Amino acid sequence: MRERTLSPQSRPEDEGFTSLLRPGSIEDFLGQSQVISNLKIALAAARGRGEGLEHILLSGPPGLGKTSLAHIVAHEMNSRLVASSGPSIERPGDLVGILTNLQAGDVLFIDEIHRMARVVEEKLYSAMEDFRIDIVIDKGPYAKTIEMPLKPFTLVGATTRTGLLTAPLRDRFGIHYHLSFYTDDELEHIVRRSAQILGVPIEGDGAREIARRSRGTARIANRLLRRVRDFADVMGDGTVTCEVAKAALLQQGVDEQGLDELDRRFLRTIIDFYKGGPVGIEAIAAHLSEEPDTLIDVVEPYLLKIGFVTRTPNGRCASDRAYAHLKCAFTGQGEQASLF
Ligand SMILES: Nc1ncnc2c1ncn2[C@@H]1O[C@H](COP(=O)(O)OP(=O)(O)OP(=O)(O)O)[C@@H](O)[C@H]1O
Ligand SMILES: [Mg+2]
Repeated sequence: MRERTLSPQSRPEDEGFTSLLRPGSIEDFLGQSQVISNLKIALAAARGRGEGLEHILLSGPPGLGKTSLAHIVAHEMNSRLVASSGPSIERPGDLVGILTNLQAGDVLFIDEIHRMARVVEEKLYSAMEDFRIDIVIDKGPYAKTIEMPLKPFTLVGATTRTGLLTAPLRDRFGIHYHLSFYTDDELEHIVRRSAQILGVPIEGDGAREIARRSRGTARIANRLLRRVRDFADVMGDGTVTCEVAKAALLQQGVDEQGLDELDRRFLRTIIDFYKGGPVGIEAIAAHLSEEPDTLIDVVEPYLLKIGFVTRTPNGRCASDRAYAHLKCAFTGQGEQASLF
């Protein structure tokens, strides 16, 4: 995928800032109030009983704070966080290595858990359920299975696509939290907090403008703040005002709705080539020379959220709002399709 300021996925330029801006404790984590109040109860109950926490599945679009929450769970339980990811655990042996090295009470974080190989996933079942794992030793006629006990741990799995998780894996999580897009108010708080950490003078309207254009995503809010900060330093006196934010974001190709070139091309494809839809995601992806998965993960969720795109059994449609945003007359069937 080409470089996008608005990509909700982590980019190399974010790396230096991730740990700096990542909320360290549950009090620093802004928004997602339902999830946070449920998590507080679960943490207090587990601590009260002196037990470990149940396994937690975190789902939601990229950049909303799944990894941050996993760190917070470990922090609040006074535990160590051992981090891994689905694609990097290639063989069952890799998982055995990780699991047998866990200490009692550790939090094992597996990011992108939906991308774990099936043979690895199956090994995880007994580990999650009974804290034991079967290991095959020797080969051929001498092969035998021994059962190995594990120290009790809490698995925190993160996924952008719950639909791709198998039922047996999903069912083994005692707790499932879904993170949803942040409101503009919440993002404004996140922008102000990050500005304070980075020592950026920011006016209320400036923070608001960045928040409004961050597509409901904390990671994007932080990234846009950095881009606007650069602009303010070079073109102004360093203060982020509303005008500075607007001018900087315009230069980045981010419009008032927070959409960028790829979003607009996505909508244009549906409107110009498929009469507003319905059209399958593969056809759109082929037009844009992008992977369907990329569009499903990083472009479409926000367009669905703001009602620019609707999904029907026959494919995606552009709504009348999308037409209005792109300043063309509505000729599609998106609105009608959304009624079904
Ligand atoms: N609730 C929040 N309050 C303040 N900052 C937040 C919050 N959630 C996320 N962030 C910021 O957004 C950045 C991205 O969050 P995080 O890495 O946890 O997202 P993620 O959901 O794990 O994304 P991905 O699916 O791409 O792994 C963090 O570095 C942090 O600075
Ligand atoms: Mg993450």
